[in-house]
Amino acid sequence: MFKQIYSVQEARQRAKQRLPKMMFDFLDGAAGDESLKDANTNAIDAVRLMPRVLIDVADRDLSMTILGQKMGAPYGIAPMGMCALTWPKADYHMARAAAQRQIPLCVSTASSASLEKIIENAEGYAWFQLYADQSAEFADEIVDRAIAAKYPALILTVDVPIPSVRVRDLQNDFKYPLKWGLKQVWDFTTHPTWSISTLAECLSNGLPRTMNYSTSKNGTKFVRGASRGRANWTFLQTLRDRWQGPLIVKGVQCADDALQIKSIGADAIYVSNHGGRQLNAAPTSIDSLSHIRNAIGNSMPLVFDGGIRNGEQVMKALALGADFVMLGRSVMYGIGANGASGLSDILDLIGNEASAVMGLLGHTNVNNIAQDSLAETHMKNTIVG
Ligand SMILES: Cc1cc2nc3c(=O)[nH]c(=O)nc-3n(C[C@H](O)[C@H](O)[C@H](O)COP(=O)(O)O)c2cc1C
Repeated sequence: MFKQIYSVQEARQRAKQRLPKMMFDFLDGAAGDESLKDANTNAIDAVRLMPRVLIDVADRDLSMTILGQKMGAPYGIAPMGMCALTWPKADYHMARAAAQRQIPLCVSTASSASLEKIIENAEGYAWFQLYADQSAEFADEIVDRAIAAKYPALILTVDVPIPSVRVRDLQNDFKYPLKWGLKQVWDFTTHPTWSISTLAECLSNGLPRTMNYSTSKNGTKFVRGASRGRANWTFLQTLRDRWQGPLIVKGVQCADDALQIKSIGADAIYVSNHGGRQLNAAPTSIDSLSHIRNAIGNSMPLVFDGGIRNGEQVMKALALGADFVMLGRSVMYGIGANGASGLSDILDLIGNEASAVMGLLGHTNVNNIAQDSLAETHMKNTIVG
């Protein structure tokens, strides 16, 4: 019998054993020497929170509203492409988990199920993430599809103007469509649980595909590692005119960029360094969060991701100015470890931790988490009595 998962670290270890090396490295890996990926988490760990006492925190509520949508918790699932390579039907598992918890699943342009099927399974708890690929027609078509499918929010990812160098993918010769050499066959054969499940899925539904491309009417093919550099300032302006609903710009770290994005009329900034998968020399995501919050003031919602591995870290991001937090690899480790059940374990774990930490900070309502939950806020104002 498969044991319940009690931490993201444990999920990561189990996913590492269960998945072929090539698949695990694709999700776990990052750019360059991969130092930013861990620096993201370490920088959040360095933040200290201030416990408050003598407050009745028995009844706590994590629900909140972001961009006009009521959510069951202040966190959701970050956009991730090609998730079916981690486990069959991963996108459907995430969509149902999002609906059950009333949290948003960000659906990548490169998702393994079509954007229409995902929002249906997510019962509306899905935001669409756009990559502005080589083809202008494809970008237009996919935005129209997101409008027709009634996505409540659109995320434009802007931090992939060129593909980064990811050493592990190069070492594994990871290609899309998959390359079938001796090395890959050996990797799959020595990970039978994944291979049998994936083979069974392939026999009924075909090979894992980037379904938004496969279902596109204009025939654009997904090219892994292609430039998404069509997303420039003019593109953003045009998109703002085209998409009437909430527009979020993802992959922003510089305050000057954030201010210009705000002036173009985007509704939220999504502070992210792509989990260290793009510019390895970039600042940690949590440092950029404080920097951008200071520059932009309280006038605009900030979504945050990068290195979140537990519920305590969710609370830290909120205290440092995030309005909403996204979980990336943490959920994929859960899926890699034990499919839908591993995913549920991780989401429940993070929710329980976040709620407990909120109580220890003296709060019963997540909307009240702010800078005064940071230890630093109190310690620098100490009154000697
Ligand atoms: C396997 C994988 C695929 C990803 N695909 C996308 C994508 O298609 N679009 C996007 O905007 N970000 C993508 N990202 C970045 C995530 O949205 C998110 O920014 C990052 O994972 C957060 O860092 P964390 O994994 O350390 O939490 C991907 C990340 C991973 C791990």
